[in-house]
Amino acid sequence: MSILVTGGAGYIGSHTVIELLNANEEVIIVDNFSNSKPQSLEAIKTITGKDFKFYEIDYLDRIALEKVFEENPSIDSVLNFAGFKAVGESVKKPLEYYTNNISGALVLLETMRKYNVKKFVFSSSATVYGEPEKIPLTEDCKIGGTTNPYGTTKLYIEQILKDLYQSDPTWDIAILRYFNPVGAHESGLIGEEPQGIPNNLMPYIVRVAAGILPELSVFGNDYPTPDGTGVRDYIHVVDLAKGHLKALEKLNKEKQGLFIYNLGTGTGYSVLDMVKAFEKATGKKVAYKIAPRREGDIATCYSNPEKAEKELGWKAEKTLEDMCKDSWNFIKNNN
Ligand code: WQD
Repeated sequence: MSILVTGGAGYIGSHTVIELLNANEEVIIVDNFSNSKPQSLEAIKTITGKDFKFYEIDYLDRIALEKVFEENPSIDSVLNFAGFKAVGESVKKPLEYYTNNISGALVLLETMRKYNVKKFVFSSSATVYGEPEKIPLTEDCKIGGTTNPYGTTKLYIEQILKDLYQSDPTWDIAILRYFNPVGAHESGLIGEEPQGIPNNLMPYIVRVAAGILPELSVFGNDYPTPDGTGVRDYIHVVDLAKGHLKALEKLNKEKQGLFIYNLGTGTGYSVLDMVKAFEKATGKKVAYKIAPRREGDIATCYSNPEKAEKELGWKAEKTLEDMCKDSWNFIKNNN
């Protein structure tokens, strides 16, 4: 049996492929390098000493995708990491985001149905909770009220999956709501490479520490949080990757179902906590200034990850120090 990984050359996809290969799973990657590089596939091979099949195709290309299923009857589950994920860009390019994320998911799901492959793990996001109903967030909290097209694509795809399961309960679906993925593989060979000036906190911090950017703007210090800066649930990408294996395990052993899990640590850190932790872990100074709040930001967002621990036997293990060190190690190696 093999696992099809769309977007397997990207940030979270590549880390997940490593964990799959380390667990002796057979992997087939589909990627069009729209937001990743071929070198990450080489890095996966170097890190794991293992090989996999690769197709350089756009997952929206139905004919090409059908060929992948045609040629690989061993595919019995699919992990979808082929979504676009930049919040700011999604506001400027809504049609591109809706097309790639939603039409892509639809083409993929229809193709799966055609080939009778009905195990699907979907990369969702804590962003579907909008303004949190309560903190920490549990999976049954209300969703909706997303503030950008990226978040809305995640919300709509979740609904599509619920409707699909409702219509045909022979599907096995896991929806994983990621909190704030950071860090990189400890080898320093793969990590996050945002194009242009990063929007997210950790990629920005490492670039300031490396002298690539002059200083961090801390977006607001008047939130109702302990130090006034925004609080988030940062999770190491390797822990996140491992969560996918546990979700797949669950789909393989359960009777059919649709399951939703938060993947977070359950601990919230402020922007200034992150700056201090990074300086302590790396010995590098991070220059910052306090700037106005960023539109669309919320004060506090962190998970209650107990459901995943109870039902999947999964728990984030890496520390904030690991997240900072590994993020730094990756940028040092790649600049
Ligand atoms: C974290 C905190 C900022 C940059 C977004 C998406 C979400 C998810 C992860 C994406 C906030 C502050 C940031 C900076 C700052 N998925 N900050 N200066 O906004 O929680 O979530 O990314 O793939 O869907 O919405 O993450 O890293 O942008 O911000 O002060 O230069 O850092 O205000 O409090 P966010 P983030």
